[in-house]
This record gives sequence, C-alpha cells and structure tokens, in this order.
Amino acid sequence: MRVLIVYYSMYGHVHRLAEAVAEGAREVTGAEVDMRRVPETLTEDVLKKMGALEPQKAFAHTPVCKVDELASADAILFGTPTRFGNMCGQMRQFLDATGQLWAKGSLVGKVGSVFTSSATQHGGQESTLLSFHITLFHHGMVVVGLPYSFQGQMRVDEITGGSPYGISTIAGGQGERMPSDNELAGARFQGKHVTGIALKLTK
Ligand SMILES: Cc1cc2nc3c(=O)[nH]c(=O)nc-3n(C[C@H](O)[C@H](O)[C@H](O)COP(=O)(O)O)c2cc1C
Repeated sequence: MRVLIVYYSMYGHVHRLAEAVAEGAREVTGAEVDMRRVPETLTEDVLKKMGALEPQKAFAHTPVCKVDELASADAILFGTPTRFGNMCGQMRQFLDATGQLWAKGSLVGKVGSVFTSSATQHGGQESTLLSFHITLFHHGMVVVGLPYSFQGQMRVDEITGGSPYGISTIAGGQGERMPSDNELAGARFQGKHVTGIALKLTK
C-alpha cells in the first residue's frame, strides 16, 4: 500500500508538518510512504526577494512530484501554505495538470486529505482546507480530515492549529513560529488515520 505526501513549502512550516504526517503514516504496518514536493513556479529572483531560497535548501532533497505518480498511490496527503485563504499557486498549477488522471478516473476511490499553514490564527486555514477538498471530490477521492479523536484540537490552553478538516500550523507574520508539539501530534495522527483507512479500503 502506497502513501504519497505531496506538498509545497516556502519557508519550511508545511515541510515540517509533512514530515510528521509521514511519521504517522509509517506507523501503519505495510505502508510504503514517500514525500514529494510540487514543482516550483516562481523564478529564483522572486524566491530570493521573498527570502525563500535559504529555507528551501533544508528540503531541496525531497523529490519533485510527477503528476502520474498520484495514480500509483492508495492515499495522498496534500500540504499547502495558505495564500489569501486558499491553496498556493504552485499546488493549484500542479493540480491543474491532473486533467488526464481525471479523464481516466485514476484517482477515484483513493483517500485524499489536506493540511496547511497560515501566518495568522484566523487567516484562512479552514477555507484553504475546505476549498482544496473540492478538487479532491472532483477526482472522486474519499476525503478524510482530522477527527476529534485527535483530542489536541480541543485544547484552548495554548494557541494551536488543527480542525476537523485537517491539521494546520500558525507560522506567525514573520514565519517565526514553527509547528508546535500539539500540531505535530495532530499531523502524525492524520497521517496514521488516513493510512489506516486506505489500508481498510485496499483489503
Ligand atoms: C502571497 C501570500 C499570501 C498569503 N496569504 C495568507 C493568508 O491569506 N492568510 C495567512 O494567515 N497567511 C497568508 N500568507 C502567509 C503564508 O501562509 C505563510 O507564509 C505560510 O503558511 C508559511 O508556510 P511555509 O513555510 O510552509 O511556506 C500568505 C503569504 C503569501 C506569500
């Protein structure tokens, strides 16, 4: 059973969540888990101006995803930073290249799930996750979120990401906040939960 974690990250927050999602997925016996980045669409000059070149070196080793790879997965967990309350353009462009997969129904019945990061606490995490789900529904995927059995999303004693729609982190206005232990626990939970459902579906 193959699990793909497909993400874009500019400063490392989504990458860190993706690592934790992979850890959780690997807890399921029999799961083969691979991490992939979606292709960059910005020029090096723009990335430099955005201060992204240095942070992106930390995950440059993650292979870039080819659209066809999606067809070989049983579950796909997508990670994207929030851009104006929506997925980032890099992810949108990648998904817009999946028309052939859609035409063949290649992703029908596969498990799909989403996680995100935004600068501010109420900066559009839920809208990013929910609007991303629309694309997964069009592909016929079985959309899975983060159930409340991950109790960490109930806590109010500290600022935390995470909702029934998926795990998330709050990066801060300058990207100064990395995913908290609670958010990383939620990411591991989601990875394991999605993989467990995919295992049941592939039996
Ligand atoms: C063009 C642009 C739009 C953004 N829009 C939002 C937004 O709507 N809400 C928000 O809280 N943060 C927004 N951000 C901040 C990003 O979500 C933040 O940099 C990201 O979550 C960090 O994750 P990463 O390090 O994995 O890229 C935006 C950033 C950029 C560059």
